[in-house]
This record gives sequence, structure tokens and C-alpha cells, in this order.
Amino acid sequence: MAASSIEDLSRQFRAALDAASSPADLKAVRDDFLSRKQGRVTALVKSIATAPPEERRALGSLANALKQDIEEALDARDAVMLATAGPKDAVDVSLPARRPWVGRRHPLTQVRERVEDIFMAMGYQVIVGPEIEDDWHNFEALNMPASHPARDMQDTLYLSAPVPAPDNGRAATLLRTHTSGMQIRYMEAHDPPVRIIAPGRVYRRDNFDATHTPMFTQVEGLVVDEHISLGDLKGTLNAFAEEFFDAKVTTRFRPSFFPYTEPSAELDVECQGCSGRGCGLCKHTGWIEILGCGMVHPAVFEAVGYDANRYTGFAFGMGIERLALRLYGVDDIRMFYENDLRFLEQIAL
Ligand code: DAH
Repeated sequence: MAASSIEDLSRQFRAALDAASSPADLKAVRDDFLSRKQGRVTALVKSIATAPPEERRALGSLANALKQDIEEALDARDAVMLATAGPKDAVDVSLPARRPWVGRRHPLTQVRERVEDIFMAMGYQVIVGPEIEDDWHNFEALNMPASHPARDMQDTLYLSAPVPAPDNGRAATLLRTHTSGMQIRYMEAHDPPVRIIAPGRVYRRDNFDATHTPMFTQVEGLVVDEHISLGDLKGTLNAFAEEFFDAKVTTRFRPSFFPYTEPSAELDVECQGCSGRGCGLCKHTGWIEILGCGMVHPAVFEAVGYDANRYTGFAFGMGIERLALRLYGVDDIRMFYENDLRFLEQIAL
């Protein structure tokens, strides 16, 4: 065996490789030269053992170099064939990978949880209660007796006793129009101090439009203890607004009216869409209303048996959809209920 036979083998391999025109041809060439049992290169390497000792080293390295050359040439040719072969024979390495579809929580759930997290960090407990409510908790104990004009503000969906008379008002069942009834439910069952929020769905006889849906989501809040002041209310809700919008936001408390608070206010935040100059998002007022609030009315404490001379408190209620519109810059509340994935997938908190 001589170095020349190694060169011969190399030439033979080149010729065979040039002649190969299909993956099957290529495989045959590979077997012919490299197969462990009958491959020609394998035989060559084995034969080195019988060469004169002083030539073995040189032959060995020549044979190894040849073997490596052949392997590389075959692999390169394999790749070319794969890339140019028809779809049946080939894996298309340029095809984009399929992404697994990742589900996520609904934007309204994300906003609700964000609100909950902020208040939990301030020591509030999260409570939930029934969506089917009675007249007492939804209205009467909140200082809205059957004849109270404030009831007109609530387009109530009654489930029984559609016209609640003064004497059967307490028994009427309805879909709660706000989460404020949870204030009553909690105070009836617990002594002060109170520091809770109550998220949940509420219902009103509204038709769908860009700013109304017959069902929406509120978060109620209630704090009761000795010496709770209007300053506590303002400090708490300002801190909430800053955390929620993750920025220094300008707020204003605007006097308002709710039968269950006195004094009552609404909290506006400066519109971030236009920095207060006025735009479509804020209906050109520069402000966006985010919640109603006030100091708990003594009549509410009386309804639940709290000592109104000893305790004071504040309450607030906010609409989650409203906050979500504001946070995401969406201008139609119905988007949150259509479950169009193209919309939902854009929103990540
Ligand atoms: N219940 C009110 C509503 O549905 C919101 C609200 C206002 C809740 C003032 C409160 C409050 O607790 O003090 O619009």
C-alpha cells in the first residue's frame, strides 16, 4: 500500500460524488466509501496495520485526512440536495417555527387584580358577595328609602316585586346596581375597624353604546374606625391613583352627591392623552372621572348598628371598565366584551 493508492481513492471518490444526482445516489457513495464493514476508506485504514512500520505514521495521517475530506464533502452535498430537493424529500429549514399560543387573563381581570394588589398592599382585605341582592342592601340601608329620588339614578333590573312598595321593599330581589351593598353586608357581620374592598359585577338597564354596558365591574372600598377623616380619604385615593397609573398624576376632588356619603365627591385625574388640554378621550374637559367617594353618612352606620358618634369612615366606588379605557387608551367599552382575540392579544399589563 502506498500514498499513491490513497490519492487514487480520493480521485475515485470525487468522480463518484460528481456522478451522484439524488439523495439515494449520495447514500450509496457514502456506504461505498465509509461503511464500517465494506467501506473502501475503512479497508484502507485497516490495511495500514500491514504496512512497513516506518511508513505507518505518514499513511495513517493521510488516510485520516482523506476520511475527513470525504465526510465533509458528503455532508456539504447532502445539504445542497436537501435545500434544492422537492417538498416531498425535504425539510424546509426556512419555514418559520410555529409559536405556541399563550393564553392570558382578560384585560378587565388584569385591571381588577391591579386595583386589588394596590389596596392589599395598603392593608385592605378583599371580599366578595352576591350579584343577586335585596332591596335593603342595595338601597335602603344605604340611606335610599323606597321613595328616595336617588333610586331613579339606578336603572334597576328587578327579579321580583318589580315595583317595590315601602312595605315590601326589603324583600324585593334585584341584580345589584352597584357594589355599595357590600358595605352593608360587611358591617352587619363585623365590628369596626373596617378596611375592605369589594370587587364584582353590577347590572343596570342600560343599552350597549360606547360608554355603557348592561353589566360592568366595580370595586367598592370602605374604611371605618375612630378618627377617620376626609384627609385619610384624599391621601388614600391620591396614593391609589399614582400607583394605578404608575406616574405622578394630577387629581382633583369635585363635590358631588351620593345618599350614603356626606360630604360626597368624585375623583378626576388629569387626562394623560392630552395632559389636560382637552381631547376626545376626556370629552375635551382635560379630566377623566375615575371614582365616587365620600365620608360614610351617619344614617348608614345606624342601619348596621354602628355607633355613629364614635366611628367615622370613608367609602369609594370605581368602575373597572372606566379605568381600563383610561389605562389602555381604548375609546369603546364594548371592545372588552366582544372577546375579539385581535383586541385581547394586544393588551398586556
Ligand atoms: N355606588 C356609586 C356608583 O355606583 C359609586 C360610589 C360613590 C360608591 C360614592 C361609594 C361612594 O362607596 O362613597 O356610581
